Amino acid sequence: MIYHTETNKMPNTFQKTLIILKPDAIHRGIVGEILDRFEQKGIRPVGMKMVKMTDLLLDKHYAQHKGKHFLPRLKKFMKSLPVVLVVLEGLDVVRVVRNMCGPTDGKNAPPGTIRGDYGMSISANIIHSSEDLKAAKREIGIFFSKNEIFSYSWPDINFYYNEEEV
Ligand code: CMP
Repeated sequence: MIYHTETNKMPNTFQKTLIILKPDAIHRGIVGEILDRFEQKGIRPVGMKMVKMTDLLLDKHYAQHKGKHFLPRLKKFMKSLPVVLVVLEGLDVVRVVRNMCGPTDGKNAPPGTIRGDYGMSISANIIHSSEDLKAAKREIGIFFSKNEIFSYSWPDINFYYNEEEV
């Protein structure tokens, strides 16, 4: 069975995660290049928007960093330009996207990762991706309402995944 022709939907084993293309990615004009990496990999956007961050949004998003020394500067940076928020979908996508982003500090991120290829900073580090599935659900809920997330079939999905994987 080729599932997408039967159901026209993603299998429920697929996950969603949130990425934020930070002000440095916007400023440097690499939004398209970064999104291209995910599409080439076999990960699809199911929600996307550009927003200007506010203190309210950032305090929710960075709740676990409350009180940390870098938070005030991080918030200032995140408000300096709009950001692009993208919900990505795919199999095991939270872990795969984290790996594609690389370690927080661009100086330590290996070549081939987004931070490794584009960045030298621990704070202006191009991209955010949700840490785990619980964080992904929480973070998506901060920025997206249900009707802003879409479900669509991929005509070529079986060139990215084998039937038994999905
Ligand atoms: P991100 O993974 O998006 O989420 C938390 C952010 O805090 C992280 O990326 C960095 O941008 C920033 N951050 C984490 N640790 C530090 C640090 N030690 N100094 C400055 N910024 C940091």
